[in-house]
Amino acid sequence: MKKIGVAVIGTGFWGKNHARVYKELPETELVAICDVNPKRAKAVAEQFGVKAYTESDQMLKDKDIQAASICTWSTYLAQEALKALSAGKHVLVEKPMATNSKQAQKLYELAQESGLHLTVGFLTRFIPGVQFIREAVAKKQVGDLVCATSKRVSQWPERIGDVGVVKDSAIHDIDVMGFISCQDPVTVYAKMGSRRIKKFEDYAQIMLTYKNGESAFIEANWLTPYKTRLLTVTGSEGIMKLDYMTQELWIEQQTQTVAPRQPIVEPLKVELQHFAQCITEKKKPLITGIDGIKALQIAEAATKSSAECKAINLEK
Ligand SMILES: NC(=O)c1ccc[n+]([C@@H]2O[C@H](COP(=O)([O-])OP(=O)(O)OC[C@H]3O[C@@H](n4cnc5c(N)ncnc54)[C@H](O)[C@@H]3O)[C@@H](O)[C@H]2O)c1
Repeated sequence: MKKIGVAVIGTGFWGKNHARVYKELPETELVAICDVNPKRAKAVAEQFGVKAYTESDQMLKDKDIQAASICTWSTYLAQEALKALSAGKHVLVEKPMATNSKQAQKLYELAQESGLHLTVGFLTRFIPGVQFIREAVAKKQVGDLVCATSKRVSQWPERIGDVGVVKDSAIHDIDVMGFISCQDPVTVYAKMGSRRIKKFEDYAQIMLTYKNGESAFIEANWLTPYKTRLLTVTGSEGIMKLDYMTQELWIEQQTQTVAPRQPIVEPLKVELQHFAQCITEKKKPLITGIDGIKALQIAEAATKSSAECKAINLEK
């Protein structure tokens, strides 16, 4: 099997994990890494025995690189993804994909025109419990879908990033809500604000409503002294609960609680393997650029809703 040559742009906390996983996967060959921080670029390149770059333009000239993961600071993702696509590379861009949905749209159009794969790092979808819940909702295993709620809360980050909690954290849940319900919301109502971090919102409560009366509620903040990441799906005949961190899943009904055992996976490994397989087999990835654009549009509507104290209609 011919391996896909890959590179990682931005090798901080998360990009280093991409590099490690690409090194471990049988489908990929890590060719090079790039980080604007020369010390970091050198250290990570040495760790994985690959070439180091501090400028992605230089690295992207390498013909052995067919695909790139973009793991820079969030406000630089679009710029670097655009460069990689322009150089003819398939791209996995980390969430939130871009600073805004207009930039995300540009990436999508370029990938389409160039016949390149563009996928977004919504790795929560690769947790087997999330896929189980999606299928269970479709099969009405707990009756008709009524509501899905998620909680993604933690301590204030030690290093304040370049986007707020909505585009950094809640965006995962915005994506998951669409994935499990297989539909787009028609309205968004949100309340958000900042208590500890002045530059960006550090808490947000977001309510999404759907055409047939279902709803979703997302709570995300950086104000909670401990980390919780939960998804609860309420149906007319029971509930399903998933702990994202332990990957434990429960189905609770009137007379019984069952805990279907799912394989415990490293979601990033499954995600990057899927990306490589999609390139080799020329198949559409589970997550497309459109999913990234939609999530950003919902995040933007949530911000607008909070600022204007009213629900925003998303129907076109
Ligand atoms: N999918 C997930 O679950 C998940 C988890 C963590 C982080 N992320 C995303 O990954 C990205 C990186 O997060 P992080 O926590 O690793 O941040 P980080 O600050 O630890 O690392 C970012 C790295 O990118 C480098 N960099 C910045 N601009 C660059 C550029 N133009 N070219 C090359 N290198 C550049 C920085 O020097 C730094 O080393 C963010 O967009 C974040 O949202 C996703």
